[in-house]
Amino acid sequence: MKVYSNAKPVIAGGRPVRKKLLDFHRPQTGHDELKAVGAVLKSGWLTKGPKTKEFEKKIAAFVKGKYAIGLNSCSSALDLALKVLSIGEGSEVITTPLSFAATANAIVHCGARPVFVDVDPLTLNIDPAKIEKAITRKTKCILPVHLYGQPCEMNSILRLARGRNIFVVADAAHALETVYQNKKMGGLSDITCFSFHPGKNITCAEGGMLVTNKKTIAHRALIMSFHGIEKDAWKRHHKGKIGDFTLIEAGYKYNMSDVQAAIGLCQLKKIKSFLRKRRDYSRLYNKAFSKLPQVRVITKNSAAGNENGYHMFVIEVIIESLKIDRDVFLKALIAENITAGMHYPCLHLQPYYKNNFGYRRGMLPHAEYASGRLISLPLYPKMTRSDVESVISAVFKIANFYKR
Ligand SMILES: Cc1ncc(COP(=O)(O)O)c(C=O)c1O
Repeated sequence: MKVYSNAKPVIAGGRPVRKKLLDFHRPQTGHDELKAVGAVLKSGWLTKGPKTKEFEKKIAAFVKGKYAIGLNSCSSALDLALKVLSIGEGSEVITTPLSFAATANAIVHCGARPVFVDVDPLTLNIDPAKIEKAITRKTKCILPVHLYGQPCEMNSILRLARGRNIFVVADAAHALETVYQNKKMGGLSDITCFSFHPGKNITCAEGGMLVTNKKTIAHRALIMSFHGIEKDAWKRHHKGKIGDFTLIEAGYKYNMSDVQAAIGLCQLKKIKSFLRKRRDYSRLYNKAFSKLPQVRVITKNSAAGNENGYHMFVIEVIIESLKIDRDVFLKALIAENITAGMHYPCLHLQPYYKNNFGYRRGMLPHAEYASGRLISLPLYPKMTRSDVESVISAVFKIANFYKR
């Protein structure tokens, strides 16, 4: 494998490591998904129905949770989770600044105050010690995110929550396959939210799942996911039923459709082979970058009994060892025909959270430090080994050329 290039980067007048642009992500969908969607379209029942029920059952079994409710996104699952737990005005919810907007927005949507605490500088997951310091009488929920597929320190988080009447809602958008202390994510927290967005490990085009072990939570979430109506459309309408309804609460229109579920069912059959590729490619990246002092790998396995979900492969560029900053590094990668990303800019420094909740730079130093240095590299089963090697070559080329 010839990957350790010392040639000139394209932005310095060199030639690209590859001719064709490598996308940051491409979902692996094909004939199976087309056939399954076609069958649903022909069936005449397109919204939530038998396919969604089947997908819910299979996801519950896969993540080892008792109840799963199919939704139109993980964002909806997060919104619904906090509403179902009756978290609202006057409450505080503790979360991480290193996540996608949906995590913190869910807290605002239910009327609570988002309390961002700093991350562990090594894993970039929320730091339980910082959570403990941030707990007040108003704290009603902790919302950890298993960033990039790496499990949070759930024992510490659950210990902090139990006995204080604090709920734990986990954002497991990156963590469908993640294992913590030999346990899958589905039953660990009061509620766990998953995503099937096209960029995730498996997709439904768009979709999400709310998973819980608690029957009362599942019951209310199901009703609230469909306007607050006691019975869903399938139960009310199929086989010549009249379709009357009883409205119990003012709920939402968050349900999954059978078209989405049909795609998800096909994807779920391939999840093991997808994960194998992600793991193999992560190992190739890991091995190569262990020889490059200008970068630090974030995605890694930690304690025994934990398994990474290998959602994203992220490096931190040590900008002090380089003549360029992270943004120029990203531009240099694109010039090499490699699309990379950055996950995430700090949420507490976004104008909305600064202006409405008074957050300022300097408050969460570890997250802020990492956020300016992170680069996410392409990692998906549709890539080939030679694609991975081209990414490694490009990172080496740029890091070595601009080395201080
Ligand atoms: C950490 C995290 N949480 C929540 C979401 C929202 O997921 P969805 O797009 O399914 O609403 C995402 C999506 O990118 C995410 O990465």
